[in-house]
Amino acid sequence: MNHHLLLIIHLLSAAIWVGGHILLCVAYLPKALKEKDTKIILNYEKKYEPVGMTSLFLLVVTGILMAYKYGVTINYWFQFATPIESVVSSKLILLFTTAAFALSAQFRVLPKLKTNPRKLPEMTFHIVSVTTIGILMLIFGSFIRFGGF
Ligand code: HEM
Repeated sequence: MNHHLLLIIHLLSAAIWVGGHILLCVAYLPKALKEKDTKIILNYEKKYEPVGMTSLFLLVVTGILMAYKYGVTINYWFQFATPIESVVSSKLILLFTTAAFALSAQFRVLPKLKTNPRKLPEMTFHIVSVTTIGILMLIFGSFIRFGGF
């Protein structure tokens, strides 16, 4: 697929992934904490999850395809030998960290959050971490057009 088209899909997906998490952080999370109402987060997650997970999937697929177009194939990952490869490898590490947070939220925190508002601080930590990582991935991605780091 054409690199420009891949980049457009990557940017649209980044807008949905990062934007959706920022909205959760600045609008829904403070309300849930103030009212100690876990349903506010659970309802948002339910609506956002299909679109959020699709955008994350598209970010990974388009990101890897673009990395290949830059010559950063799987054999070069995690060597931190060239500037573009360093950005790609850093983004992959952040991606694995995101996956770890998502699994932990899905299997450890969310099931208990349904009945126990005392899990709200732990959920807050997960949400703020995934949002920060998403913003970092966006910033790291922006380095590629300047030659990487
Ligand atoms: C939450 C996940 C991600 C976000 C928010 C994100 C965001 C971005 C943004 C904003 C750009 C800048 C494009 C530009 O300069 O116009 C970018 C570029 C890029 N990203 Fe990602 N990205 C994510 C995941 C990934 C993954 C998993 C990979 C693959 C390992 C990847 C590989 C790339 C590449 C190769 C570029 C350079 C595209 C180009 O300018 O030609 N990204 N990303």
